[in-house]
Amino acid sequence: MSGKPQVCIVGGGMITQVQILPSIYQLQRLGVVGEIGVCALNSAPLNALAQDETLRKAFAGHSFTAYPSLDTDPEQNFPDLFRQVIAKMPKDSIVVVAVPDPVHYQVIQAALACGQHVCCVKPLVLTYSQAVEIERIAYEKGLVVGVEYHKRLDDRALMARQLYREGKFGEFRIGHAEMNEPYYYRHSNFQNWFTVENSDMFTYVGCHYVDQVHFITGLLPKAVSVYGIEDTYPNGNTGYLWTDARVVWANDACLNVTNVMGYPDDGPGGNFQGIRMYCHGDNRSGMLVHNDQNRGIEHCYVAKGSEPGDTYYCEPSPDYFKYVNLGGEGLTPVGYGYRSIELIVKNICTCIDVSADADGRQALTRRRKLIKQFDEEGIMATPANSSYNELVIEAGRLSILNGGREVEITGGENAGVTFRKY
Ligand SMILES: NC(=O)c1ccc[n+]([C@@H]2O[C@H](COP(=O)([O-])OP(=O)(O)OC[C@H]3O[C@@H](n4cnc5c(N)ncnc54)[C@H](O)[C@@H]3O)[C@@H](O)[C@H]2O)c1
Repeated sequence: MSGKPQVCIVGGGMITQVQILPSIYQLQRLGVVGEIGVCALNSAPLNALAQDETLRKAFAGHSFTAYPSLDTDPEQNFPDLFRQVIAKMPKDSIVVVAVPDPVHYQVIQAALACGQHVCCVKPLVLTYSQAVEIERIAYEKGLVVGVEYHKRLDDRALMARQLYREGKFGEFRIGHAEMNEPYYYRHSNFQNWFTVENSDMFTYVGCHYVDQVHFITGLLPKAVSVYGIEDTYPNGNTGYLWTDARVVWANDACLNVTNVMGYPDDGPGGNFQGIRMYCHGDNRSGMLVHNDQNRGIEHCYVAKGSEPGDTYYCEPSPDYFKYVNLGGEGLTPVGYGYRSIELIVKNICTCIDVSADADGRQALTRRRKLIKQFDEEGIMATPANSSYNELVIEAGRLSILNGGREVEITGGENAGVTFRKY
């Protein structure tokens, strides 16, 4: 497979299992990427990936190199192993960052220092200054950093963006969004890291719809307040598991965002999600509603699965990530979860190709031009075109830790967040 970029996925948890690894396997099947490694904190999640029945069925004959190896004691942790793995790969490889939010920054830094491109799950990092630093280093070195806000690749979001920018809806005024994760998540690894001092439901999933509003309208947020309720995990740790946020935009429009880790396990969907935006036109109003959880499918099974959240009646979404039988080898992943990874990986490959026949200086110039093009197009999220999200996270954290006080965002040269003065 020489000539194709190698891939190392750092983090072997839930998102790697359900979206990233199958997407990367599919790109390997299509001949886009070469060898695949997965590096986790210990061997436990790597064994779960290696034994995953769905992955085996869909991708018989495909495998990954595990770091640490599968026979390592699952109790033994290797928090810095990713550094050696990344350093050993040839330059221009791809590092997919899928570790808990507070660890993203150090993995991205290590990847860029070794000349590797990055595909990072959202949120890129937790502070604006880190996002700007990543943007600068990647640009200097001619490396692509794509942030995996996969809702951007949902066709309904792309349609809405196009139509909004053609003026079809009028100007956004007031809206409401929800992304609510199931109650049983509290029993998972979340309880070890998703605690009050690290994160909250708005930081974790609120960014999806904040990003959707920006993606569709081009507006930037100017103020945020987040009210959160602390709740206790089964292991005794506490987290902000119920949040309600108000995001005010540059044109004074307002999006209210509800995020909870409390969607009923017996509810018909894997979670609850959607957005409603009211807009103002010429002596009439416009409206845009995305019911992102119920996509029109109703199933009732004769037996219930044994996984948490399995129900007799359910409303599965065919749009995020599913495996379908298109004939040929195994199963094919479809949906915007796959398309989003594909877009970032293909953009990285274009960056490598564009400079293939050029010498050092010229190669760098061509790469930088392409990186600026990605930033300006705004389809793939990059540090430059999505770092307003890090300002929203900073503002949200300041607000939630202070009982929901309103925090203002300043963009541009002196970007930062401060409490609103009354
Ligand atoms: N909708 C989305 O875009 C979406 C959905 C889910 C998760 N995510 C993001 O994906 C990331 C991971 O989430 P998850 O649900 O898979 O978490 P998880 O807890 O299931 O898995 C985290 C993984 O990171 C590994 N890890 C931790 N520290 C490490 C280190 N130092 N070196 C190597 N590996 C390390 C762990 O071994 C584990 O395999 C988070 O940033 C989360 O916000 C995004």
